Amino acid sequence: MSDTDLIGALRVLEREALAAVSGATDEAALETVRVTYLGRTEGSISKVLRGLGALPTGARPAVGQEANRVKIAVSEALKVRGLALAPQTRGSAEDLTLPSRGPWRGGLHPITQAVDEIWHIFRDMGFARARGPEADTEWYNFEALNTPLDHPAADEQDTLYLVDSVLLRSHTSPVQVRTMEAYEPPIRIIAPGWVYRRDTYDATHTPAFMQIEGLVVDEGVSFVDFKATLAEFARRYWGPDTRVRFRPSFFPFTEPSAEVDVKRVITKPDGTRVETDWLEVMGAGMVDPAVLENVGYDSERYTGWAFGMGPARIAMLKHGVDDLRTFFENDMRFLAQFSS
Ligand code: PHE
Repeated sequence: MSDTDLIGALRVLEREALAAVSGATDEAALETVRVTYLGRTEGSISKVLRGLGALPTGARPAVGQEANRVKIAVSEALKVRGLALAPQTRGSAEDLTLPSRGPWRGGLHPITQAVDEIWHIFRDMGFARARGPEADTEWYNFEALNTPLDHPAADEQDTLYLVDSVLLRSHTSPVQVRTMEAYEPPIRIIAPGWVYRRDTYDATHTPAFMQIEGLVVDEGVSFVDFKATLAEFARRYWGPDTRVRFRPSFFPFTEPSAEVDVKRVITKPDGTRVETDWLEVMGAGMVDPAVLENVGYDSERYTGWAFGMGPARIAMLKHGVDDLRTFFENDMRFLAQFSS
């Protein structure tokens, strides 16, 4: 055959081979096509390449070049068809162009989130944030708050003493005293912080826990102001249909004193709206005049109200958690659910 005949034959082989490649419907058929055209001994394109030696020297380069081009074209077609016929190892819904899911960078603890949300609501209502020491004296923790040291709350059974008359505060109420000592009315503060009690660690108690103290003192402040402020807070925090109830109670530093309960309306997954039970959320009351006198305020001129609430309890109610300990055991599978 002349070199031009050979080149023509190669082009015919190429067309045949490419048609056979696209006609192969499975990997075995494709392998047969490969052997037929490119097989080392019997492949028809390979044979042409091997026969180059028999051509006159002058014809070799042109035929050789064409044979190589055809060989590459057919191998590439085999490769592409092979990919299309390969068994699918990835789910078809997988979109490989999506950006990767960044690593979880951590998040705020659910109790910290509750403290922040509560504080922000009061901040929006004009309150300032106050703080006091966690190690404090009997005077600030008890006596200034109208609680004699022979009161059961002051007992070593309940309170963690550090040295004589110095203790880990058992509530955030000492911040009331320290704030009133430092400032003149009007006072509107929120004081979140850790408090400590000799409690046994169980589903509803931890020896260290958070409290949020609230205090308002000014001329003409009445229980009505307290009810209105609390109702507004409750609607902003738990939703507009939340109801608030005050039950008579006793604290040495408030008179009258109350426990505050809330009843929420929650929407179930099926869309129906149901009311919860009454849930106790805080202790509160009108500041006892004796406390005002202890900080040098004129109790004839000024009145005030105060509350103390437990954000851990509030976070439990909010998230439907029934064991307080889960908040403190640092199981990341539990805690990570509260942050994105
Ligand atoms: N300090 C009280 C407690 O820890 C709560 C409280 C605060 C009650 C302020 C009345 C006013 O239980």
